[in-house]
Amino acid sequence: MRTRVTDLLGIRHPILLAGMAGSTDAALVAAVSRAGGLGILGVSTYPTADLIRAEVAKVRELTPNPFGLNLLLWGALEYVEPVLELQPAVLSTAWGDVAPHVEAAHEAGCLVMHMVQDVPGAEAAAKAGVDLIVAQGQEGGGHVGLLSTFALVPQVVDAVGDVPVVASGGIGDGRGLAAALALGAEAVLIGTRFLATKEAPIDHSWKLAILEAGGQETLRTRIPDIANEADWPEPAAARTLRNALVERWLGRESELRSQAAEAGAKLQEARRRGDIDEMALYAGEVVGLIKDLPAAGDLVERIVREAESLLPQLTAKVLGRTAPKA
Ligand SMILES: Cc1cc2nc3c(=O)[nH]c(=O)nc-3n(C[C@H](O)[C@H](O)[C@H](O)COP(=O)(O)O)c2cc1C
Repeated sequence: MRTRVTDLLGIRHPILLAGMAGSTDAALVAAVSRAGGLGILGVSTYPTADLIRAEVAKVRELTPNPFGLNLLLWGALEYVEPVLELQPAVLSTAWGDVAPHVEAAHEAGCLVMHMVQDVPGAEAAAKAGVDLIVAQGQEGGGHVGLLSTFALVPQVVDAVGDVPVVASGGIGDGRGLAAALALGAEAVLIGTRFLATKEAPIDHSWKLAILEAGGQETLRTRIPDIANEADWPEPAAARTLRNALVERWLGRESELRSQAAEAGAKLQEARRRGDIDEMALYAGEVVGLIKDLPAAGDLVERIVREAESLLPQLTAKVLGRTAPKA
């Protein structure tokens, strides 16, 4: 499977690991890059730039293949410079203005990939000169916007001219990859499906919650951000699994705001303990498709093989039919 994205990034498969802050590490990133995809390390929540440097050194020990570093531009601006000094193949960005960083990234030898949730965002990113645009649908896990992948991706493809588009949100198998290609995307960026892998650096209880949940058990909520007093830009809200934390505060968000300090501390503590009832269980609607915990590299292979066999089958099945007699 060769697309402009695989050519641009020098990778074998059009599959990118989402740079999930707090839920990616060197082992997961290297596993995806070694398998021929692009691993991306989410570094926005690292406490210091030295810790980012140490984790990147580990990635480089594990694989010579290209990888990316992800930054949330609304809150981690102090890391732009140290990240560019590390010269990842890709600077992956989201939620903020990418324009001020494109030239510096290119000077450092990095491609710039910016994630958007609507057409005006995509047009602004294309105007800023980014090399790739991720169109992220609201069915995805973590912080998402308002439009769905199926509607958003072709709108973004039409809006950005020659800039290659990557689809994200709700993609968990080869069918999702094939559909994304049909919509005009040239790769997929996957988060939730990679959380349910052997290497994902999250508590095992979170992985089990993903395996057990149905797609109807997620919702888009501001509860974790209110508790964390995190000032995400509009229209961001986090898709999480419904758990006791969410059920308790749903509809009582202003009350939560007044108790944020205590609630935020409890949230962090619950994550440390792996308490799935009380932590923010970020996950997308695709959870309903996830039934196993494979190695990340095997998952990349599986998704690609499935899409590769599906595309010709689909063509034969739909176009190879003779028309019914009138
Ligand atoms: C636990 C989690 C953390 C995430 N953190 C980030 C992040 O730090 N930066 C970012 O650009 N996107 C982040 N995302 C969103 C992903 O980039 C991606 O768009 C989303 O996971 C796609 O939907 P999917 O989960 O259905 O694959 C996160 C997603 C999850 C599930």
